[in-house]
Amino acid sequence: MTTTLAPEETAGKTDSGLEPIKNRIGRILENMPPSAAPSPPTPEQEEQALQRILLSKGVFPVHLGARLNDFHNPPETPPVFIHGGAGVGKTHLAVAYLVREIQTRGEASRVFIRSVDLMNRLRDSFRSSYNQAASEIISASSRYRFLVIDDLGAGRHTDLVQEAVYDLLDFRAGHRLPTVITSNFSLDRVANHYGDFGGRIVSRIVGMGEILTLKGRDRRLPAGQPAPWPVRRV
Ligand SMILES: Nc1ncnc2c1ncn2[C@@H]1O[C@H](COP(=O)(O)OP(=O)(O)OP(=O)(O)O)[C@@H](O)[C@H]1O
Ligand SMILES: [Mg+2]
Repeated sequence: MTTTLAPEETAGKTDSGLEPIKNRIGRILENMPPSAAPSPPTPEQEEQALQRILLSKGVFPVHLGARLNDFHNPPETPPVFIHGGAGVGKTHLAVAYLVREIQTRGEASRVFIRSVDLMNRLRDSFRSSYNQAASEIISASSRYRFLVIDDLGAGRHTDLVQEAVYDLLDFRAGHRLPTVITSNFSLDRVANHYGDFGGRIVSRIVGMGEILTLKGRDRRLPAGQPAPWPVRRV
């Protein structure tokens, strides 16, 4: 049998039972110090937080300060391929786009990869005949929301690595995932560098967006000083 209490009975019982507890909570709250509202982070704290994120994404300390306003009229949409000679600012510009992405869309799945590290990881995965691992590397890199591949073309690659790079760029192009590649190479040289896959790699790159040539001096040298070696124009 179920007994239902009339509303007034319920109210009476509950109130009388809760009253001492309510009073105690009231006294505790009165004696608590005024809660300190969390103060918003200072610009210095925000900058430090951003720098920690960039380091965790693989950006080198020398590029932590890169911002788009370091450049004159940078394209609003990140170019897919930034090329030019040594020290002209390709990595600096790519990091500046990464910073804008993190500041406007959050850090999740926005990544900076040095091409050499990516290629070495791929090469090692094939060497130890863990083909599975190579496909995992490719599928992880394929899915990042924003990917910088810094210094494409550095180092020689086996056919398997060339094919893996093609797979990665094919996926990113096919899913229109924003990708910024920097390279000392022109697209012609990229095509030659990636053997049988070169032409198709370049075709994916061209189809993904703008090709930007950065000109200017090698910023690693003191201003006004010419490079002490022959500079090959890209
Ligand atoms: N617009 C800029 N404003 C301030 N500093 C810059 C700018 N561009 C580049 N730098 C600085 O100049 C140095 C060389 O730039 P960066 O590393 O981007 O060159 P790079 O074109 O990637 O060269 P490499 O082909 O050798 O990799 C870095 O210390 C970088 O932070
Ligand atoms: Mg660079």
